[in-house]
Amino acid sequence: MSTAVESRTIDTLLLEERRYPPPAEFAAEANAKPDIYSRSFEEFWETEGRERVTWFEPFTELLEWELPYAKWYLGGKLNVCFNCVDRHVAAGNGDKIAYYWEGEPEDDRREITFADLQREVVRFANALTKLGVRKGTPVAIYMGMVPELPVAMLACTRLGAPHTVVFGGFSAESLSGRMNDMGCQLLITQDEGWRAGKPVPLKRNADEALASSPSVKQMIVLRRTGGDVSMQEGRDRWWHDVVEGEPDDPESCPCEPMESEDLLYLLYTSGTTAKPKGIVHTTAGYLVGVATTHHYIFDVKPDSIYWCAADIGWVTGHSYIVYGPLCNGTTGIIYEGVPNYPDPERWWEIVERYKVDILYTAPTAIRSHMKWGPEFASRHDLSSLRLLGTVGEPINPEAWVWYRDHIGGDRTPVVDTWWQTETGMILITPLPGVTTLKPGSATKPFPGVAAAVVDDQGNEVGPGAGGYLVLKRPWPAMLRGIYKDDERYRETYWSRFDDVYFAGDGARVDEDGDFWLLGRVDDVMNVSGHRISTIEVESALVDHSEVAEAAVCGRSDERTGQAIVAYVSLKGGREGSIAKLEELRNHVGKKIGPIAKPANIVFTPELPKTRSGKIMRRLLRDVAENRTLGDTTTLADPAVVDEIKQRAATGQTEE
Ligand code: PRX
Repeated sequence: MSTAVESRTIDTLLLEERRYPPPAEFAAEANAKPDIYSRSFEEFWETEGRERVTWFEPFTELLEWELPYAKWYLGGKLNVCFNCVDRHVAAGNGDKIAYYWEGEPEDDRREITFADLQREVVRFANALTKLGVRKGTPVAIYMGMVPELPVAMLACTRLGAPHTVVFGGFSAESLSGRMNDMGCQLLITQDEGWRAGKPVPLKRNADEALASSPSVKQMIVLRRTGGDVSMQEGRDRWWHDVVEGEPDDPESCPCEPMESEDLLYLLYTSGTTAKPKGIVHTTAGYLVGVATTHHYIFDVKPDSIYWCAADIGWVTGHSYIVYGPLCNGTTGIIYEGVPNYPDPERWWEIVERYKVDILYTAPTAIRSHMKWGPEFASRHDLSSLRLLGTVGEPINPEAWVWYRDHIGGDRTPVVDTWWQTETGMILITPLPGVTTLKPGSATKPFPGVAAAVVDDQGNEVGPGAGGYLVLKRPWPAMLRGIYKDDERYRETYWSRFDDVYFAGDGARVDEDGDFWLLGRVDDVMNVSGHRISTIEVESALVDHSEVAEAAVCGRSDERTGQAIVAYVSLKGGREGSIAKLEELRNHVGKKIGPIAKPANIVFTPELPKTRSGKIMRRLLRDVAENRTLGDTTTLADPAVVDEIKQRAATGQTEE
């Protein structure tokens, strides 16, 4: 584990003495009471499985565990769309708001009731059926934060067609790579999205992606901005045209009864190689897992106005904007744009307007608000807020306390929730009516979840010691593998230690049994809560015709958690320039997406290598973090690092 991570946490642990027990009134009304922890694993997931979800046919077996593959709720039949939409309408809640939607351009608003959602989903599912989508047809979705994105996802689940949602900030190449891996037959996109007042060319990227995605034969395009796009005859159709005249009564398109273990979706995430992994999520365990955690952790009430301010293109949005909340019949907010458009008051206007009681976001967003200053929040009545949450990266205690004070009025609990694309659901988290909170700690494993911290040998470490986070027992929403790559699945998660899931995170447990997450221990960076692999960025750089070699690492960044630093040597020993730096950053943006653009590029004639030719990334991390260099004796040419240090320090290539 890197020394930076270690020392940062030791500091945290030494300094962080603040404690926040649950407020008495909150605890008295909370969905989760202390006795929740005494429920047994089997009883917990059996009962939740029966109560949170409506089954077409009840399950007969809770769990079949043949390491490393789990099957949950065997023998059951159900449909995710039925659970998220139809059953709420049937129960008389059709008039309840499912989503308040705020477009990024001001005054662009919609209210969508559960009955509206059902009508839109049914019409769109009928349209998809006409285009040949059936149970098992893989569908790709590449959209911004518009209501039609959950409509498209739900329509797929209604038909039993697995989807892969690709975040709208990814490039054409990233999109086509994912569609090719899944063998998608149809793509749903939109003309453009809005981001910070500027249009994002989704359809243009999609066109480019389709040029190298031969399996995709059809494209449906939602008109969002009205921007000019070209439509290819016979292949592309407008959303409004395909739904025209389609019936919207649920009987016209019944929900497909699915087996518990049928594929629900793939979501691609970065690992330690250049190729993203298609994380497999199946139907029943996933739905039970997200609905149960959403109910207890966010303490959702029937009249809650819940806002998860993530993007649906990431797992947080899948689990806690779409499937968990809708399964629980919760009213949610979807906001299309960036937090500071047109100014940093935007979020707080939304909280005030809809009287949001639960807000869930990423530490990086909190740190941005900290930087802009508390005055923007203070101009708004945020007294409706009852509970705050964070996800995606370790939260520094200062940001945690700022969030609680300035947003939560020094009243609300803050739940720091640890989980991953692979885990599907939150696994380590406070329960707001039960847990005494410590800023910076994700506290305890969720009921029914067995987490531990182990040393190099796989032995559990004692209180205070650092090590690797592992999960010792399956959980319902866990990944069912990496799509078409059994070997990589076993290798990545199940080979580091015997019989336990290795999460790739460092962690520490304190004397109260509370978990402190310390960041990644592999070659994965966490930029603004988004996982990016160093090798993926290196491959993108080396793909540029003038780049000879590249090495990439993360350095700590006050706002984004980590920032990407690239060390690049150009072919023919050429020197870099500001223009070249911009060109390379744009190249990475084009290959992966703007989120992967390096914050700094240091041009250097040589990279530090061992005598056997391996790049010593450890030293590059030391340079990036401005630390004293570790052991350099194994370097083939020790002068190289001095040169790099100097170049990095003179800021010759800084942005
Ligand atoms: O390193 C951990 C960090 O985010 C990683 C998972 O990233 P991703 O699959 O993109 O999912 C993010 C949203 C669930 C983890 O391996 N991480 C996530 N939540 C936390 C966290 N690190 C510390 N504290 C958290 N609460």
